Amino acid sequence: MIEIQGNNILLSTLKTSLLLHVNEIGKVTADYYGSRLLSLDEAPALIRKYPYNQGDSITYKDENPALCLDHMKLISSTLGKGDYFMPSLILESSKGTLFDFLFESAVALSPTILEKLPSPHGAQEELVITLLEKAMQIRLELHYQLFDDSDVIACYTKIINESEEEVTIRKAASLQLPLVNHEMEVWSTYGNWTGELNIDKKPLTFGRTVIESLCGSSSNRHNPFFLLKNKDASYTQGEVYGFNLMYSSNFEHSIEMDSFQDVRVQLGISSTGFAMKLQPHENFETPFAVMNFSFEGINGMSSDMHRFVNEHVILLPFRGKDRPIAYNNWEATGFSFNATKLRSLMKKAAKLGTELFVLDDAWFSTRNDDKHGLGDWRENTKKTGGIANLAKEAKKLGMKFGIWMEPEMVNDDTPVYRDHPDWVIKDLFHQPSRGRNQFVLNLGLKEVQDFVFQSVSDTLKSGEISYLKWDYNRNITDYDNRNGIFFYQYITGLYSVLRRLTEAFPDVLFENCASGGNRFDLGMLSFFPQSWLSDDTDSYQRTLIQEGALLGYPLSVSSNHVAAKTSNQMLRLTSLDTKFDTACFGVLGYELDLGDLNSLDIKVIQSQIQYYKEHRHILQFGTVYQDTTYFDHDEKMMEATDGKTAIVAHYNKIQKPNPKESHLQVFGLQEDALYTYTTRQESIAIQKFGNLINYTTPFHVNPNGTLISILGKYIDMKSEVDQGVASGKTFAHLGPVLSQEWSGVGYDDKVRLMSDFGGRLYTVVLKTNTEA
Ligand code: DGJ
Repeated sequence: MIEIQGNNILLSTLKTSLLLHVNEIGKVTADYYGSRLLSLDEAPALIRKYPYNQGDSITYKDENPALCLDHMKLISSTLGKGDYFMPSLILESSKGTLFDFLFESAVALSPTILEKLPSPHGAQEELVITLLEKAMQIRLELHYQLFDDSDVIACYTKIINESEEEVTIRKAASLQLPLVNHEMEVWSTYGNWTGELNIDKKPLTFGRTVIESLCGSSSNRHNPFFLLKNKDASYTQGEVYGFNLMYSSNFEHSIEMDSFQDVRVQLGISSTGFAMKLQPHENFETPFAVMNFSFEGINGMSSDMHRFVNEHVILLPFRGKDRPIAYNNWEATGFSFNATKLRSLMKKAAKLGTELFVLDDAWFSTRNDDKHGLGDWRENTKKTGGIANLAKEAKKLGMKFGIWMEPEMVNDDTPVYRDHPDWVIKDLFHQPSRGRNQFVLNLGLKEVQDFVFQSVSDTLKSGEISYLKWDYNRNITDYDNRNGIFFYQYITGLYSVLRRLTEAFPDVLFENCASGGNRFDLGMLSFFPQSWLSDDTDSYQRTLIQEGALLGYPLSVSSNHVAAKTSNQMLRLTSLDTKFDTACFGVLGYELDLGDLNSLDIKVIQSQIQYYKEHRHILQFGTVYQDTTYFDHDEKMMEATDGKTAIVAHYNKIQKPNPKESHLQVFGLQEDALYTYTTRQESIAIQKFGNLINYTTPFHVNPNGTLISILGKYIDMKSEVDQGVASGKTFAHLGPVLSQEWSGVGYDDKVRLMSDFGGRLYTVVLKTNTEA
């Protein structure tokens, strides 16, 4: 709801309000952002008071010496008039560098969309505040879109050059939100290949905290999502602000606290090397930034952000739509396979119950390693037996068929590289550097955009293909940024290709992949409904990655695969069930050599898939609750629920001697209703028990010998099963007591053996009236 009354403007979503105020000198401030206000009548109580100028601050206008910009909660700021925060806007023109914008109007209108950048859809209302710099003839529009169902406000800024001079934009933040420090903490994520999305927590201190990427992608170094919270807020309670940017290239977010403990949060395109020149009467629109406030802890903020992405970012054909369970051949075969191997994997994958066969890298051209073939998308029929045939075979087996591409890249043994050396990103003087032996095509060029569109279209038409994994395995170097907008042109070029492709192939499910989570952001999610978060399929590492992702992104966008027991990346051995305990939170897939499975493994996977299919919608679209950050705790709980059913995982980092009593705490249930709970029984390898096996056998068995490994293919131990009934209230309080943990003596079905890096799943279901 937008209410404009006198100098006050109140923007309210279902549970939050943002109060804007036009002060007596025509500057616009945001004096309050928090829980929803009852009435605009509360405004005077919340607006900052200025009785005296503070110390050595600069007086903006002699008529009112109390007013200085440095101390105002400005929603947009520039250099040169006494505001010493980092400005949200830096402009230059031949007339000068001082720009002083003043309020012109505030109007509510129907939601607009950006011309070149992705926009959220389904906003209820939009407010536009227009500011004018009279002398320089520049207008500034600050757009605020309201999303009631997710309590999100999405903002962008438009700069309109109404002068007859060229104006250069050096910096244009999408959002500036002023706050006051209440012992705040900043949580953001950092990472690298196979170690993406680690949660970093730090107290907000004086000066600037900057979260940014200069990689040419939003990058796995620092994701554009971050949160600010009250020091005492936890996952389950307290005040939390969440922020994100709908953009996939270089970004710059900062949280600056000045000596008065005034805080300004800024999100936007990176200003490093940025210089957008506006000719007379041209304009520039920034990407959308989004913000949320929740007083229900990190879980509250996250579930708002999840709803926002599911409802307002994901494209319509996939909005709320269950995603298929994939089998992908990458970790099984790498670059080396033939048609027989693929067919055999496909048959086995179908038998297990997977629904989509994905042929990964190396199906084309001369690609038998990572040095060749990118950019030459002619299929290598010798290796595949024909894409169309494979797709047909998948169909016969009741599966869909999908394929991998890395459309923005080239190797130098391809016709496209030879014929169009100028399409590769490079400057005038230097030899471009390789990353994974490849170069990047300049998507800023229209010819390249057409080439990429054509390559992907042709591939998608080469058979019945319903899924495409879009990879991007290196970051950008060697660019010629003399015009100051190289990265902006690259990313808007990419968006225009993605727009054309998703319009031409609306039913194809695209999976965003960039060596894992290198371009995991709201911009890419606007076109691609799901994302490969990381090449790390180790269950422990993956739990860390998924908990980082879930802070700002929903389950439905995170594609997670169960891979071989010994992780390719960490060489850590965990059971298939442990891997499932993590991978099932999101879009499940499998990625191991199915030829290596024994009959027990097959049964284990079949039962996982059956379980996942029963609870798929909750595991992909449920509300998420977490209790701690696994990185700095030994145990962790993760839950997905629709209020009637909850799937709860317990993760255990290190096996402890005589662990304390464990409880099954569950959130988001109806307090006064009864629910049943059951452990999803896991398969535990007999080898796990080492020499203890000899306590039960009539003859000596070498725990490392051949006999045990043969037996282990057919016999396993079953985990404990806890079962019972409790009310939603009891679950939320502490929850039922679980079986006693393994403490070194005795093992039977009453003992809960979690192991190092182990897990367990619990199914909690509302008792129906007839049962009650
Ligand atoms: C990196 C991806 O993240 C992997 O899943 C796989 O597709 C390889 N690229 C293929 O080269």
